[in-house]
Amino acid sequence: MHELSDRTALITGVSGAVGGRLAATFEGYGARVIGTYRTGKEAAEAVIGTGHLIQADLTPPDAARDLWAAASAIAEVDILVVNAAVIEPTPLTGEDDAWDAGWQQTLQVNVIGAATLMREAAAAFAARGSGSIITISSWAGQQGSRIPDLGAYAASKAAIRNFGQSLARAYARDGVRVYTIAPGVVDAGMGTAGLSADEIRAVAEGLTMGRHVEVQEIAELAAFLATDRTPSLTGSTLDLNGASYLR
Ligand SMILES: NC(=O)c1ccc[n+]([C@@H]2O[C@H](COP(=O)([O-])OP(=O)(O)OC[C@H]3O[C@@H](n4cnc5c(N)ncnc54)[C@H](OP(=O)(O)O)[C@@H]3O)[C@@H](O)[C@H]2O)c1
Repeated sequence: MHELSDRTALITGVSGAVGGRLAATFEGYGARVIGTYRTGKEAAEAVIGTGHLIQADLTPPDAARDLWAAASAIAEVDILVVNAAVIEPTPLTGEDDAWDAGWQQTLQVNVIGAATLMREAAAAFAARGSGSIITISSWAGQQGSRIPDLGAYAASKAAIRNFGQSLARAYARDGVRVYTIAPGVVDAGMGTAGLSADEIRAVAEGLTMGRHVEVQEIAELAAFLATDRTPSLTGSTLDLNGASYLR
């Protein structure tokens, strides 16, 4: 992917499982990486290599705009990968407080913060005539969650995919490409958090390929999309779920 060697990628959430692999992979293909973390400074430092790190919590209203300004002050950003997200429970029964807080946090980080960052990037890319935005959604955004308490998470992943489609249309003639990756259950991060080895094996057994999506697959697909070799893919959602969900 030599096309990435002269490009700068802003990748959110490099302290997490998927983001860390995204950062390492993009850097391996020669990109300059600007990564963000919220609390996981050590994890972020372990993957960032020669790139830059910015601490950013996307909960406050202006956080995404501040992040874009901070990243742009480091380098002209060519690629935005919106990866950071929360997976807050929104229990269908029980305390209202947990429901309210879960929805608010999920919408603020996964939708409003993400969309605001995409808006900032798209405007800058359009002014320059090129740039790629890649969002990491989820198959839950296409079919709802199979876990009853994760309805807000699934809805947020549908919302950001949908916004990506609007953005792709709006800037299609300006050299701005917007792609969505929708992974199934991944072998790391949110996909395995809180589960025992036996539970992880049981999940794998239930998947069509008999295994999880490998985190590296997301990184490789994102790197390919970032090269913009197939610009007509703009607006598309790339399913990465091993035929567990086909549409
Ligand atoms: N793993 C899966 O099975 C799976 C499947 C489908 C889609 N995805 C998507 O893949 C992406 C990455 O997931 P993952 O599994 O790598 O999750 P993860 O390991 O939990 O990482 C989440 C990342 O988001 C950051 N983050 C959390 N809250 C934030 C906030 N308020 N502001 C800014 N950053 C925040 C975390 O930062 P700190 O750790 O520094 O606080 C961390 O870097 C997400 O968009 C997720 O929806 C994952």
